Amino acid sequence: MPQSRPGQPFEMNWPKLPVLSGIRTLGSVLNSMRIVRNGASLISSSSVLGLFRMSGSTGDKPADTLYHMSIGFRNTQALYVVAKLGVADLLVKGPLDSSELAKKLGVQARALFRMLRAVAAQGVFTQDSSNKFGLTSVSQLLRNDTPDSMRYIVITYGERQYEAAGKLIHTVKTGETAFDHIYGKGLFDYLSENDEANMIFNLFMAQSHRRAGDQLGFYDFRKKRLVVDVGGGQGHLIAQILRLNPHLKGIIYDLPQGVGQAQKYLEEQGVSDRCQIVRGSFFESVPPGGDVYLLSRILHDWSDEKASLILANCRRAIRGDGTMLIMDAVIPEGDAPHLGKQIDLQMLILTGGVERTEKEWRRLLELSRFALNGVTKTGVQFDIIEASPV
Ligand SMILES: C[S@@+](CC[C@H](N)C(=O)[O-])C[C@H]1O[C@@H](n2cnc3c(N)ncnc32)[C@H](O)[C@@H]1O
Repeated sequence: MPQSRPGQPFEMNWPKLPVLSGIRTLGSVLNSMRIVRNGASLISSSSVLGLFRMSGSTGDKPADTLYHMSIGFRNTQALYVVAKLGVADLLVKGPLDSSELAKKLGVQARALFRMLRAVAAQGVFTQDSSNKFGLTSVSQLLRNDTPDSMRYIVITYGERQYEAAGKLIHTVKTGETAFDHIYGKGLFDYLSENDEANMIFNLFMAQSHRRAGDQLGFYDFRKKRLVVDVGGGQGHLIAQILRLNPHLKGIIYDLPQGVGQAQKYLEEQGVSDRCQIVRGSFFESVPPGGDVYLLSRILHDWSDEKASLILANCRRAIRGDGTMLIMDAVIPEGDAPHLGKQIDLQMLILTGGVERTEKEWRRLLELSRFALNGVTKTGVQFDIIEASPV
């Protein structure tokens, strides 16, 4: 980690995203930027002028950095509209102009053109001299039918999460979760009452799980028999584990709305005969008798108080020689960069949850009579925390 002294610039080592040269994501902006911290003047009058000389290059001026961070909201929405309308799927056979696209989509051609031009300038599409737009390796990921599709990740960020982000100020002023403030209920209650939003959320979880990769592929399950995936959703993680470990049995435990497509997925993966689906709330109980309890992207959804309730139910259910595997970010102390700090903002506004440092994880686990045995850094946004009952 680069160190910085007060007032000195430092380089952010942000994970590189798969983008074309020229596309400016938050990651690449932060990656190439230098931030002046701790009391140094952030914007001089000459760099303010720089805001009006934007030529497309990121540069390394603090004003450029600040400007590009500030306008990210428009890109979020433009990408969302592209994903929601399904533009990328229409370009699979070759480039089309905005009139042809607009006719197929039933939208306004000129507005569509201007939006596509703006994102094409950042590498999301190609735009040729006859104004036809074509796919790039970035927009390929917005297709619906590719195994590495990120379409529902982009849709999710542009809908409910975007609305919640717009009320961050309310959360900061009052401490109330922005989502609850807007919808009058928590995210999971909302999803249980809204089929379309629930379908989008489940696809978002599946696509973001795929994107995070196979973090548990290395784990030694040879002496284990039954893995309970608490809040296991559509079963992507447990299916992966069962495929790699033919001797294991599994249980997916989740709310009825969370396991909608799980049976179908387990069958497709050839593991349905070794995996049971159990419906229920982890605030009430979790299925007993497992020797591994998985909590993947669960505890970060909740405050310490609620996370302790989930852990206490796991503690009651787990075998004495069992293992708890928690997949969540372990964020570094201080101002070291980490994607988990962005996800922490998401938790703040969406569910009232929190990303934790190693010290905070240790304390939370101790409260529920677990000992933290170790943390495996995966290099992606979620790490693996191993704990055992004490
Ligand atoms: C962020 S998703 C994580 C899904 C999955 N573990 C993964 O990593 O892809 C949170 C999951 O918790 C489930 N969930 C929320 N509240 C729950 C509750 N009270 N009891 C059981 N599951 C719950 C949701 O339905 C959802 O599947």
